[in-house]
Amino acid sequence: MTTTLSIIKADIGSIGGHIRPSEKLIQAVRSFVAEKGKGAVTDFFVSHTGDDIAILFSHFLGKGNEKIHRLAWDAFVAGTNVAKEQGLYGAGQDLLKDSFSGNVKGMGPAVAEMEFEERPNEPFLFFAADKTDPGAYNLPLYLAFADPMYNAGLILSPSMNKGFKFVIMDVNHTEGDRLIELHAPEEIYDIAALLRDNQRFVVEAIYSRNNGDIGAAASTTRLHNIAGKYTGKDDPVMLVRVQGAFPATGEVLAPFNIGHYVAGFMRGSHTGPLMPVKMNSSISYFDGPPVVCCLAFCVHNGKLTEPADAFDHPYWDWVRNKVSRKATDIRQQGFSGAAMLPYNELEYGGIVEKMGVLDQRFIVKK
Ligand code: F6R
Ligand code: MG
Ligand code: MG
Repeated sequence: MTTTLSIIKADIGSIGGHIRPSEKLIQAVRSFVAEKGKGAVTDFFVSHTGDDIAILFSHFLGKGNEKIHRLAWDAFVAGTNVAKEQGLYGAGQDLLKDSFSGNVKGMGPAVAEMEFEERPNEPFLFFAADKTDPGAYNLPLYLAFADPMYNAGLILSPSMNKGFKFVIMDVNHTEGDRLIELHAPEEIYDIAALLRDNQRFVVEAIYSRNNGDIGAAASTTRLHNIAGKYTGKDDPVMLVRVQGAFPATGEVLAPFNIGHYVAGFMRGSHTGPLMPVKMNSSISYFDGPPVVCCLAFCVHNGKLTEPADAFDHPYWDWVRNKVSRKATDIRQQGFSGAAMLPYNELEYGGIVEKMGVLDQRFIVKK
């Protein structure tokens, strides 16, 4: 039987600004899925990362299934009702359409899904990030699936010796999915040439070239491409299968010790280092820093184990301190240069308006 894992996540309201959802909201989403998902969902897990609440579903209905997508949408609507009752900030923020129409893609929530025949043991990783966008996973995925400096298995394990196929999306293209397939290791320069541009090119999926199986699937939504205006950063989610034909868990985690600079942070308009955090972490300094959590699971006949919190380990405390330092360092230059995103990535219209006014006041001296 083919198992499907689907993560569907949305920001539907938070306590005290864009910090974290309330317990009551999370409970409302959880009870809704538990009750209404009977018969369709084999198992599920609800958690939050900053202000985003993510539902991980395990089921047998395949990718893009209307029942599962509707269930997530309705659960977010139920959560939004609680957010409104409690006066939470940004209630229903990511539900950009008034009513559900078949699939949550393009309606605000982020989605990452994969279908596969379960191995006898099936370990996988759930990732959720806040205050950043889908390109945040480009570098860690490149390093984990194509660079033997981070993934020792690429040279040590015969089951990865053929490398991986990267499927990369041009997220600027809004009339349909514009995709390219590139093969590591032969085409790593081409992969790097695209993935260096985190705002335009995003890894959608990665496949093993040893057995053709799917190894990774990430959400690729750009909210500002859907809504045409700022509605929050895209806060991406991702699934990664590990071990065997795929990198080991530790090889996938390894690049997250860089705390690489990503787009997001305050008002989705800055550059900040990506901090690996524990499950259900909140947001703080300068509405950030951008955070990512990783929960490791096994799935068997569609049933999930409890999660092992991959960044809840003393090693990552040291990384978090290092990343805090990087966050402080870049914040010291305020609005200047690389600290704030380029003009077309700014998520608020203030500067655009200001430029319009100032433009009139320029004079050209001959
Ligand atoms: C970034 C984010 C926050 C808000 C900021 C202002 O993704 O969610 O940094 O942009 O708190 O919030 P609003 O515009 O809702 O007043
Ligand atoms: Mg938000
Ligand atoms: Mg968010």
